[in-house]
This record gives sequence, C-alpha cells and structure tokens, in this order.
Amino acid sequence: MKSMSEKVEHSPKMQTLYELVAELTDLSHIMAVLGWDQQVVMPPGGAEERGLQLAALGKIMHQKFATDEVGQLIADLEAEVGDLYAETDEARSVKVSKKTYEKQAKVPLRLLMENIQATTMAHEAWVKAKAASDFSIFQPHLEKIVDLRKQYADLFKPYDHIYDPLLDDFEPGMKTADVREIFEKLRPQQVALLQEIAKKEPADNAFIKQHYKDEYQELFGRFVISRFGYDWTRGRLDVAPHPFTTEFGLGDVRITTRYLKEDAGSALFGTMHESGHAMYGQGVPEKYKRHPLGGSASLAIHESQSRLWENIVGRSKEFWSFFYPSFQMLFPDYLANVSLSDFYRGINRVEPSYIRVEADEATYNLHIMLRLEIEIGLMEGTIEVADLPEIWNSKMEDYLGITPPNDAKGVLQDVHWSGGMIGYFPTYALGNLASVQLWDKLLEENPNVPDEIAQGKFDTILGWMREHVHQYGSKYEPQEIMLKATGSKLTPEPYIAYLRKKYSEIYDL
Ligand code: CO
Repeated sequence: MKSMSEKVEHSPKMQTLYELVAELTDLSHIMAVLGWDQQVVMPPGGAEERGLQLAALGKIMHQKFATDEVGQLIADLEAEVGDLYAETDEARSVKVSKKTYEKQAKVPLRLLMENIQATTMAHEAWVKAKAASDFSIFQPHLEKIVDLRKQYADLFKPYDHIYDPLLDDFEPGMKTADVREIFEKLRPQQVALLQEIAKKEPADNAFIKQHYKDEYQELFGRFVISRFGYDWTRGRLDVAPHPFTTEFGLGDVRITTRYLKEDAGSALFGTMHESGHAMYGQGVPEKYKRHPLGGSASLAIHESQSRLWENIVGRSKEFWSFFYPSFQMLFPDYLANVSLSDFYRGINRVEPSYIRVEADEATYNLHIMLRLEIEIGLMEGTIEVADLPEIWNSKMEDYLGITPPNDAKGVLQDVHWSGGMIGYFPTYALGNLASVQLWDKLLEENPNVPDEIAQGKFDTILGWMREHVHQYGSKYEPQEIMLKATGSKLTPEPYIAYLRKKYSEIYDL
C-alpha cells in the first residue's frame, strides 16, 4: 500500500529516473535471457554472434545511461531528496543510481569496448589453456586484462588502494583494508583447525563419489528445494556445465545444476546452493519490480544465502535425519549399507584439495585468501602474470600443504579472470562468514529451528531471511544489512566458532 501512495507522490524528475531504470532493467534482463540460452541450450556455432549481440546490448545500455542529461537528472534529484542516506526508497534510489552513474560515466566507451573484446578472446584462450593445462596460452590475455583493470581502477583516483574500485563493483562500500583485516583474523584459526583435523582418520566419502542415476538426482533435488520454498511458478531448473542462477525479472528466477559421473555430491549440494541464490531473487518485493532497488545488496550477501542452504542447512545432521531415508531408498546400490552417521561424516569430510569449487567448509576460505593475495599483487604490480603458476603453487603449499600437479588443477581452474572479474573472489569467503552470522541471529530468535529442520520444515528460515535480507533488495549496502539484521558488521568470529563446533564433534577434536 505504501508503494501505491509513493507512486502518486513522485516528482516529475523522480518519475523520469524510475522510467529510465525500468527500461534499463528490461534490457539487462534481455541480456540475461541471451546469457542463459548461451550456457544452457545454444550450439557451439552460436558463440561468436551471441558475443556480438551481448556487446550490442551493453553498448545501448551504456549510451542510454552514461549521458550528461542523466548526470544532470541525478544531480537535480540529489538536491531534491536531500540526504542520500535517508532511509526512504526515493533517497536510496537516487543514491544507488548515482553510484552506478558515476561508475559508468567515468568509463570511456573505448575502454568498455576494449574490455569486451579482450575478455571474449581471453575466455576462448582460457578454455584452450585449461584443456591443454598450459598457462602460456592464457598468459598474454591475462596480461592484457590486468592492464585494462589497472586503467579502470585509475579512473577512480584518489583511492586508498588500487584494488578498492574493483572490489566495490561486487561488494559496495567494502574496502581492501576491511577484507584484509577480516582475513587476517580468519587465516590462523582456519589453518590451526585444519592441522588438528589432519591428524585424525579422514571420514569415508567413497559412497558419494559415484555416478548416481541422473533422473533420480534431479528428482531428489527438486524435492528438497521445493521443501525449502523455491517457487516453481517463478522459476525452473535446467542443466548447465557450470551451475548458476539467473534472473529475467522478479517473476522468473532460474537455476541450473550438473550431474557428474564421478560425484553425486555436485548436483546434490549444488542444487541447494543455487536455490539459495534464487530464493533471494524471488524474495525481493513486488514494489521493486523494474526499480533501482530491485537488485541485491551484494555478491557476499547473495552468497550468504546460497551457502546457508547448501552448508548450514544441507550438510546438517538434522537435515539428513529427515531426508536420509528417502535418499537412501532412491540410491540403494550405493547407500544400503551406509548408516546415517557415516553418511553425515562422509558429506562433511575435510581434505585439502586443489579445486576451490569442490572444497569443504573447513578449507574453502583458504582457497579464497590465496586468490586475494594474488589479485592484490597483480594490481599493485608486485606480482607479474608470467610468474603466476609458480606463485600459485607455492601459496597452495603454504595454505593447504599440497601442490597442484598441473596448471589446469592450479592457476587455470577458475573462469573469473578470463572475464575480467578481478575483485570477485573475496565475496565467496565473505559470504561464508555472513551466512553463519545471520544464522546465529536467526537461531537466537528461533531456537526451535533445528527441530523444525529435522521435521523437514523450513518456513521459519525462509521467512526470517525474507524479513531481514530479501525484502530490502539493493536498498542497503552489505554492511548495513549485517548491522540491521545481526546488530554487528561482518565479523569472522561466528564462522570460526561454527566450524570449530561442527568439526570438533565430527572429528572428536
Ligand atoms: Co554462489
């Protein structure tokens, strides 16, 4: 009802901004449809022209938004609404739009186009390099990308740190110094925990490293996320080589998963993970449809939602006490002789591994920390791209005590850098931390939640996230969300305590 009255009260200039953002939102959702098609159904022959189509749309959006008229409109609106930190939707819409405008208007079209071209070629080179496990194929492309990212960061001088403008694109308001401070507290604790676990007998997880029948995996995935509260009237599930969630609007938030021959855990936990992202998108209120506040707070807050459903819920004892009997019945060939407690231990096995996306909860953040150090080094110029394979391997040894056998399992494993996404990785670890910090508050207010999970009931959890996170869309920055929801900014202590408690029990530490 409030949104109805707000509509009537908009000034003509505010109305102009809302209409412009509505149109840009439509265009970005069209791009999302093309991107989904590219990853889910497009034949390989479509790649080149699809790249051009996406670039054409990107150019149109830039030309519509990064104009002097829009700059003037936003300046006028800033004077009209006054304090940009006031908590009205109008003030926050102007604040969010101003920030986006300042970023886009600073970037010359030449740099934008050069970036699209460089990342398109780099992606192809990365695919080849990874298949051949040969970093030298990717090296010149990554050098170009690092150079372009430095040019981009320099547009935002003065900054405290050259990495700040990159980080801010994914985690609004977060500074390099903040992340370093959090990681410095986290690292010794995670390393110590890992060393204690390493002395114990590893849990057996051979039963999950199998090729479960795809159709049954899909059936179970759908069953679980339906229970979580994923809305199928506004979503669908498809198969893609690299699982992701995408939004074509509030009414169409899709997820993808993959069924691996060698690991049934991939789809099992991946589907829960993506459903967490998607339920966030589905939880943004109707009043923010085609609206400046219709997005999310940040990637870390997004990842807090996916990690919560995948790990805190999906790898919990209570969850499996409810779901294991049906899961076991679907896959008797692998599970008939595996008890619930052995299953629980197996899916929570801790083991230093080469690949980030397969890492367990106790080692995951260490993969992120080494990437952050490398990215900062690349941007500062203290690390040369040519030295990356060697630096990568020595940091893996430092953090996890293992050395990748080749570049494909080392420095080439992730797609992010080929897409120019430097500054993205820290959000994964920050999301892990946020997930537990939010969870602790939820539990404090709802101590019955573990019992509810054991009965297959998840509405208290989803309801709490709707109220404290989803309903705000992109109105608040991540630290504001954390402060409002939990009473404190993002901090590593709850996550450390969670890991210690969980693994002390499993490994009898
Ligand atoms: Co995710």
